[in-house]
Amino acid sequence: MMALEPVLQPLNELGEIPVWCERRGRLFWTDIRACRLHSFDPDTGTAETFKVPDWAGAFALTETDELLLALRKSLVFHDLQTESFRLLDTFEPGLPNNRSNDGRVDRQGRFWVGTLNNAERIPTGNLYCVARDTIAFKRDVIIVPNALAWSPDGQTMYFADSWIGDIWAYDFDPGTGATSNERVFLAKDALPGIPDGATIDCQGCMWIARYGAGQVARITPDGKVDQLVQCDTMQLTACTLGGSDFRDLYVTSARQRMSSEQLKAEPNAGALFHMRVATPGLPEPRYRMI
Ligand code: BGC
Ligand code: CA
Repeated sequence: MMALEPVLQPLNELGEIPVWCERRGRLFWTDIRACRLHSFDPDTGTAETFKVPDWAGAFALTETDELLLALRKSLVFHDLQTESFRLLDTFEPGLPNNRSNDGRVDRQGRFWVGTLNNAERIPTGNLYCVARDTIAFKRDVIIVPNALAWSPDGQTMYFADSWIGDIWAYDFDPGTGATSNERVFLAKDALPGIPDGATIDCQGCMWIARYGAGQVARITPDGKVDQLVQCDTMQLTACTLGGSDFRDLYVTSARQRMSSEQLKAEPNAGALFHMRVATPGLPEPRYRMI
């Protein structure tokens, strides 16, 4: 089995959502519980850290080169140059224990984002789709939303509730963003751990982090496990393919809820991990007005 190597410190409490920005040649990701956004330049090996006003559970690149952050209770545009924030909208004022979690942009430029109850046991999470700067409700009764991804042709959407453990596939209408024909893409017992963040490569295969198992799996479009990659820490939260040729697999991880013994046994818990892969990924879609 191939192995993921740690790239750099700092060790994140809850690293999430690695996103490769091909315009800047940098990887961005968030440390949700630390209210931090990190970026890494593989050419120089240097990283930068930005403070954000609240927990950023997910974020999107935009056509205008801002970032669209899904904070705990609001969506804000963030200009990295001026370090300014501009409110788009707020959500879930009546659910004080909810926060944003996984979020990704579909191939047409809509930003999808899920929410969860912080206890991660209570099904008050929802899935939303942000289009034309408006937040639309899509689904409720979610415990831990994860694995949002789209096939290269944009006609299949993937999603998982990590707590349930199955990864679902849907027929996706690129014109309207409607989903139909929910089916199990990968059953919960097919692999150890639980499904977390995902990305799709140019052959339509899914790379998915398995939280609790320290593995990242490559799954073919017909749901077969094609490759397994091992890591020396168990809580892997999300992955993406980036770098100048889109063949750099980056994986985020978390130190949350680990005992001091576990942290001693897994000194790289919370690091960003990397490995070269054979098949390139695709540029990350950007949020845009459609
Ligand atoms: C969430 C974590 C959660 C993990 C496993 C991640 O996407 O951010 O809070 O513990 O999934 O369910
Ligand atoms: Ca995740």
